[in-house]
Amino acid sequence: MRSIERYMLAWLLGALSLGTLVVMAVTYLVTLDEMNEVFDRDLRHVAESLGGYHHVGVTLGADTAARLPTRTDEPDLDEIVTVTWTEEGVLAYSSDPRVQLPFLRTEALTEVDVGSERWVVYTDVSPNGIAQAAQRSAARRDAALEAVGKILLPIIAMSALVGAMMVFALRRGLRPLDQAARDVAARSAVSLEPMPTEAVPAEVSPLVRAINSLMGKLAESMSVQRRFLADAAHELRTPMTALRLQVQLLERAQDEASRREAVAELEYGVARSAHLIEQLLQVARSGPDGQPVRIEPVDLGELVRSVVGRMSAKADAKHIDLGAQTGKALRVDADPQALLVLLNNLVENALRYTPAGGTVDVGAALRDGHAVLYVVDDGPGIPEAERPRVFDRFYRGADRASGAGDGSGGDSGSGLGLAIVKAIAQRHGAQVSLHTPVSGRGLEVRVVFAAAPA
Ligand SMILES: Nc1ncnc2c1ncn2[C@@H]1O[C@H](COP(=O)(O)OP(=O)(O)OP(=O)(O)O)[C@@H](O)[C@H]1O
Ligand SMILES: [Mg+2]
Repeated sequence: MRSIERYMLAWLLGALSLGTLVVMAVTYLVTLDEMNEVFDRDLRHVAESLGGYHHVGVTLGADTAARLPTRTDEPDLDEIVTVTWTEEGVLAYSSDPRVQLPFLRTEALTEVDVGSERWVVYTDVSPNGIAQAAQRSAARRDAALEAVGKILLPIIAMSALVGAMMVFALRRGLRPLDQAARDVAARSAVSLEPMPTEAVPAEVSPLVRAINSLMGKLAESMSVQRRFLADAAHELRTPMTALRLQVQLLERAQDEASRREAVAELEYGVARSAHLIEQLLQVARSGPDGQPVRIEPVDLGELVRSVVGRMSAKADAKHIDLGAQTGKALRVDADPQALLVLLNNLVENALRYTPAGGTVDVGAALRDGHAVLYVVDDGPGIPEAERPRVFDRFYRGADRASGAGDGSGGDSGSGLGLAIVKAIAQRHGAQVSLHTPVSGRGLEVRVVFAAAPA
């Protein structure tokens, strides 16, 4: 798992180590440069002061050198080696005979190889002789390294201190995140209270706010679900009570006629319960997180003809003139099963609430670039004031619910049909609207699809 703390620490400590290395390298280079300058000047001074003897006429010939006291100790490796020559290039004196410096004739600072080592030589040329002062290049590097070595410890100590402070600051800074995570984890599924936002740092607060808003939505949808479950249980109780009564009636039936009547009642009760359960299932399926949908091109005209075909027997029984109005193929991308349920509910409503002798027209058309499904009847319609509520679950119109009073009398619905229609429409990005037909009687239900059909 990716950790912000580890990620930032890796980068910060990496940068700190790199910075330390760079500081040391720069210190070394600057010191070396500085040392070169100082030592070069030293070499020149030594060579010139040695050459000074030549100027005053003291020629350091081999005979003079022989008279000088000879040195008994071994010269140090860092020491400046001095050499004098006669004008002809005869070695007069060398402070360290092990170092075989070359004879040079020009006054200059040069670098020469002596044996396997590199030396810096200053040559002083005067009328009576030549004096040289030389030093190992390595001696300068060693001096620079020594200088770096001296600041090494303080720098490492400082880096360690800064590093420790970074770790500490990062741990402390990220602590509110841990706290927020623990807060969320400590919550039980039932407690959807918002988390406190006051003590939370600015970086974490959007996350906490998002979680709070999510929990708010969850709480809302949970209460909607609970209400629906309660309503559903309540609605199921009514037909169950009726069924129990009808069973009792059947048990008590004395003659064949009353027995047959009781059986018919019982059958109707069972059918009503089955219808309610079917509608409840449809509600569960048509919700925003219902079943995974199979989206494919659906010809609305074909859909209309198939629903009208299936319902024609029912319409005939009720003496209602049921007609389909379809033009050429009108395809929308949809879940065919869901659209079937939608149109079935609308046609069922029209047939149920339109009295015998009425007319119901079902159609599909292209209007203003939108595919439209519509169902028009010439029944009682829905009063303007009631229209917003008919889409609520379990809402049934007061007076019409008792049935149209014909053969299928008492055919009251469960109040879920239009809620299902609306949910399915929403899932397809379609709008459901209620209108009064031009005749001024009845009801027209329109489902307008958002996208223009392909
Ligand atoms: N075509 C219509 N004409 C008159 N009233 C209607 C029509 N369609 C629906 N309604 C009214 O709207 C109410 C809600 O309709 P909805 O389809 O949601 O429920 P239902 O038909 O009562 O029951 P369900 O469809 O679940 O069996 C109905 O009870 C009825 O009063
Ligand atoms: Mg209905």
